[in-house]
Amino acid sequence: MAKAGAPWHIGVIGGSGLYEPGALDEMQEIAVGSAFGEPSGPVVTGMLGGVRFTFIARHGAGHRLSPSHVNYRANIDVLKRCGVTDILAVSAIGSLAEEIAPGAFVVIDQLIDRTTGRERSFFGEGMVAHVPLADPVCPRLSRHALKAAKKAGAAVHDGGTYVAIEGPQFSTRAESLLYRQWGAQVIGMTAMPEARLAREAELPYALVGMVTDYDCWRENSDVDVADILETMRANAETARAMLGEFATILPKTRSASPIDTGLDTAIVTPRERWD
Ligand code: ADE
Repeated sequence: MAKAGAPWHIGVIGGSGLYEPGALDEMQEIAVGSAFGEPSGPVVTGMLGGVRFTFIARHGAGHRLSPSHVNYRANIDVLKRCGVTDILAVSAIGSLAEEIAPGAFVVIDQLIDRTTGRERSFFGEGMVAHVPLADPVCPRLSRHALKAAKKAGAAVHDGGTYVAIEGPQFSTRAESLLYRQWGAQVIGMTAMPEARLAREAELPYALVGMVTDYDCWRENSDVDVADILETMRANAETARAMLGEFATILPKTRSASPIDTGLDTAIVTPRERWD
């Protein structure tokens, strides 16, 4: 875990529409491998407002990876290997709530995982670890992201429960209505297992969702592809502005994350136990 007082190094995971971070000073592509396979694409690093940002596009260049094909473990692993201290993830989402309109941003605070069949842990054979995940995002990073999104001109919602579905299909109407009954406000396909893995890697994680559509629960919410693409383009512009604001909002020195970031309080099975 990064020590409090160490410089910030923000890992940005860009979702649909956000395939590059915008202009960074001293920007360069770096080659980083992972023991967990191929990350989604090239890793780009550079400085913004005196803070180092390292960026990876979740779906790869040209959006070649579906949510089920993203190697979430490799993405988190390469960010960790680059020395990232904290992760700001950005994702396109659908809205499950009338008051959250397309074009709005949502700083997510809870997650429900309905994904199936994705590699969701760095642990397994050889070492068992159960990390706490009650609060899956870091409140201090989320607070900074909220301020940054506001300063970038976004209509932002502070908090929201995100249900992660496997996709690539959108939900059925019955599912969409069910998720609303569960108390979810937004829906997407990628935040899980990303948030789980960030926790295991002891990287505080914040997630900003960019709303592209009302999911199918809403009458007359038939999606117009041209409208969605235009909303995505505008959202990505705002997200890049948010990164610039985020750099200026971060306190000069990095404070410890108030959430438990992982392994210190995890239940870990030591090797001797299972030999
Ligand atoms: N991403 C953007 N809109 C979505 C929706 N309606 N369902 C799932 N993922 C999404």
